[in-house]
Amino acid sequence: MTPALRIEGLSKTYDDTGGLLRRAGAGGFQALSGFDLTVDAGAFFGLLGPNGAGKTTLISAVCNLIRVTAGEISVFGEAHDAMSARRLVGLAEQDVNLDRFLDVEETLVYHGGYYGMARGQARRRAREMMDIFDLSGKAGVRAPKLSGGMRRRLLLARALMHEPRLVILDEPTASVDFELRLELWRYIRRLHDEGATILLTTHYLEEAEELCDEIALIRSGRLLARNSADGLRAAYGVRTLADVYVRAMGGERDVSQPA
Ligand SMILES: Nc1ncnc2c1ncn2[C@@H]1O[C@H](COP(=O)(O)OP(=O)(O)OP(=O)(O)O)[C@@H](O)[C@H]1O
Ligand SMILES: [Mg+2]
Repeated sequence: MTPALRIEGLSKTYDDTGGLLRRAGAGGFQALSGFDLTVDAGAFFGLLGPNGAGKTTLISAVCNLIRVTAGEISVFGEAHDAMSARRLVGLAEQDVNLDRFLDVEETLVYHGGYYGMARGQARRRAREMMDIFDLSGKAGVRAPKLSGGMRRRLLLARALMHEPRLVILDEPTASVDFELRLELWRYIRRLHDEGATILLTTHYLEEAEELCDEIALIRSGRLLARNSADGLRAAYGVRTLADVYVRAMGGERDVSQPA
């Protein structure tokens, strides 16, 4: 079966444009190097790694938000920068980047428009999203007047507007309360049950454990290991995912090849 995502030899060096600000010979910062990753269609896949590991860089490359230095990326078998591939991906970014001048409904409808949805269709889908994400009572409210949790929900609703088959969530539950976290888990699980492939980053190990059937550990722009939570525990010979994380990030062993 064609994988949802295939990344081969991906490298990203920031500030590699040779621009005026770059001192001669200074080089750039290598955020990813020689990164290979395949995510099967229908997977619930987690990316784990410390701040600065390269998770958002990886996602930004997949979503054409940055220019890659080297490597190939395909989405359901199509080059990631093709229009058809872009339509297959929905992204909720780590930063809550909502337009402060748009209300909830406009945020969703305009997004539908960017993805080629007819206005009537976009409005219908927006109503459905507002219903699912409990935002119907806030349809006419602009982003700055929403609570933090509502903004998170709107971000997720917007990512799902055009019914993407690959949903990428960059720390979707960062700084949300316990109740909303459980609610978001429920939404995301439902999405997965309905057939979407999920790629999620998180710093909450219990979240990765609870939701993901496969986990990739990343450090300093390199893939250290990928496996199920059970597989990782077995490979590192420890009892908890936290122990796996500490060992992997401590660099004790490289188990990037499944046993
Ligand atoms: N636009 C940029 N220009 C230069 N360097 C960047 C840029 N964006 C990210 N970096 C650097 O690339 C590295 C990886 O950053 P990235 O945002 O991908 O990490 P991350 O794994 O998402 O971390 P976090 O868990 O903190 O979100 C960091 O050292 C960061 O400073
Ligand atoms: Mg990040």
